[in-house]
Amino acid sequence: MKGVVVYDSYYGNTKKVAEAIAEQIRSEGHEVDLRTLRERYDKQVQGDFIFVGSPTRMGKMTRRAKVFVKKMDKGSWKEKPVVTFDTIMPMPEDEKEREKARKWIENGAAPKLSALAKNMGLATYSPPLRIEVTGMKGPLSEGALEKAKDYTKEFLRSLGR
Ligand SMILES: Cc1cc2nc3c(=O)[nH]c(=O)nc-3n(C[C@H](O)[C@H](O)[C@H](O)COP(=O)(O)O)c2cc1C
Repeated sequence: MKGVVVYDSYYGNTKKVAEAIAEQIRSEGHEVDLRTLRERYDKQVQGDFIFVGSPTRMGKMTRRAKVFVKKMDKGSWKEKPVVTFDTIMPMPEDEKEREKARKWIENGAAPKLSALAKNMGLATYSPPLRIEVTGMKGPLSEGALEKAKDYTKEFLRSLGR
C-alpha cells in the first residue's frame, strides 16, 4: 500500500509527529509520501490512505490544512481512509482553568478536519490522533512519538491487509 502523510507546523512539533507516523508506515513495509503543506505540492496526491495533520491554534486547524482537505479530490479519495491528527496544548491542572481551556482543545484541529472530510463524503477514521505538547510551543509531551506510532500501527491493522 501507499500512504500519504501531509502536515502543517509552525514550531516543528506536528512535523515530528508526521515523521513518526511516516516511519511507522514505512517500517511495516508500505510506501509513504510525506509532505509539508508549507511547500509547493501536487494537490492531487494519490495513495491508499492519507493522514492530514495540523497544530490546533485558536481552537482550530491552520488555513493551509483546511484548504488542503477542501481541495482533496473526492473521486480518487472516495472510500479510502482519511486519518487526521493534531498537536494541542496541555490541559491545565486547575479545575476552573480546565473548564475554560476545554473549548480551545476538545474540538480542535483534528476533530474539525475530520468533520470537514466527513461532510465532503470522505471516509474518516476515528478517533483522530491527538498529541499534547508542553507549553504553548512545545516540545512534545513525553511518549508522544510512541503514541503516534502505536496509533498508526493500530490504524494499519484496522485495514486488515
Ligand atoms: C497563537 C497560538 C494559539 C494557540 N491556540 C491553541 C488552542 O486554541 N488550543 C490548543 O490546544 N493549543 C493552542 N496552541 C498551542 C499549539 O497547539 C502548539 O503551539 C502546537 O501544537 C505546536 O505545533 P507546531 O510546532 O507543529 O506548530 C496555540 C499556540 C499558539 C502559538
